[in-house]
Amino acid sequence: MNAIEVRNLTKRFNSFTAVDHVDFDVKKGEIFGLLGPNGAGKSTTMRMLCTLTRPSEGTAKVAGYDIIKEDARVREHIGLVAEKLIMYNDLTAWENLRLYGKLYNLPEDKLEKRIDKLLKFVRMEKWKHKRVGTFSTGMKQKINVIRAMIHEPEILFLDEPTLGLDPQSTVEIRELVRRINIEQGTTMILTTHIMVEADMLCNRVGIIDRGKIVALDTPSNLKKLVSGTDTLTMEFEIPNLTTELLGNLKSVDFVVSVLQEDATHVKVRAKGEDSFDRLLDLIRKNNGKIKIVKNLEPTLEDVFIHLTGREIREDTKKASPRRRPPWGNENERGRR
Ligand SMILES: Nc1ncnc2c1ncn2[C@@H]1O[C@H](COP(=O)(O)OP(=O)(O)OP(=O)(O)O)[C@@H](O)[C@H]1O
Ligand SMILES: [Mg+2]
Repeated sequence: MNAIEVRNLTKRFNSFTAVDHVDFDVKKGEIFGLLGPNGAGKSTTMRMLCTLTRPSEGTAKVAGYDIIKEDARVREHIGLVAEKLIMYNDLTAWENLRLYGKLYNLPEDKLEKRIDKLLKFVRMEKWKHKRVGTFSTGMKQKINVIRAMIHEPEILFLDEPTLGLDPQSTVEIRELVRRINIEQGTTMILTTHIMVEADMLCNRVGIIDRGKIVALDTPSNLKKLVSGTDTLTMEFEIPNLTTELLGNLKSVDFVVSVLQEDATHVKVRAKGEDSFDRLLDLIRKNNGKIKIVKNLEPTLEDVFIHLTGREIREDTKKASPRRRPPWGNENERGRR
């Protein structure tokens, strides 16, 4: 059985369609990624699946329950790490976690044990009675993640889990996502606009653009969609490296860049292998030698460009330590 089955899921805000007849399944035990640029409809899709907002059309089954007719049952089986951090800075890690556990009516003794186990899981036992306001953004995000796991959900939703984190914390949160999936067997669905994150974390990725899923497969299969557009990076040693020769190298079809390293070394980048023979001819005629040839595999960015003709711009969301407010409301949307 699938953990999530999405059918024709649509969300309109007045005349604007934010999520446009989306279909996909998430298999039990997998990490599924929704990858897309700003405003693609990732969070809106997540919010509908978590029963925080009702679809305009279509529906979905989450953990076997209908998100419209059985919304309360859905909520019992899922945990959500929302885009915004929702935590009381003046309370300790334990108090924050306990408060949340109470919302799930967990009995006191069970809750106590569960909190200890989760704090141990993220190696934060020592911080149990420290105020969350004193934590780094990465530590807060760890608490945010384990809080969503307090009632042992079988499916965990993470909306841009590494957004606004420093590089070190980003690595740690990705590692945590993997560990939860492997060690607890939790099905995970996460959104991201970061290609490498989707590539390294997810078993399968749905690329979403303007409310539509434009491709869905494993990262390696998605990259096969653009095979043949690999980038070749080559370094040549040429005793007599003239400006004329540099120009000739540049004019070979599919050559992207020619960079002179020093008097006798040049780096050439080319799209596709077709250019290789012609470059070799030129190099040999000039008594040159090949030093390095590297084939750079296509990335999910290349796939996105191939499918949409546009780039997912990384710089649309610069990491900002202030992005997550000390206190937020899940129903209140922060506009960027
Ligand atoms: N409550 C709302 N009212 C009106 N429009 C909305 C509302 N929520 C989202 N939208 C619009 O729907 C579109 C999809 O938004 P959504 O937040 O789902 O995108 P996203 O893929 O999560 O993007 P981001 O990278 O910014 O988080 C956007 O154009 C957004 O402005
Ligand atoms: Mg979003």
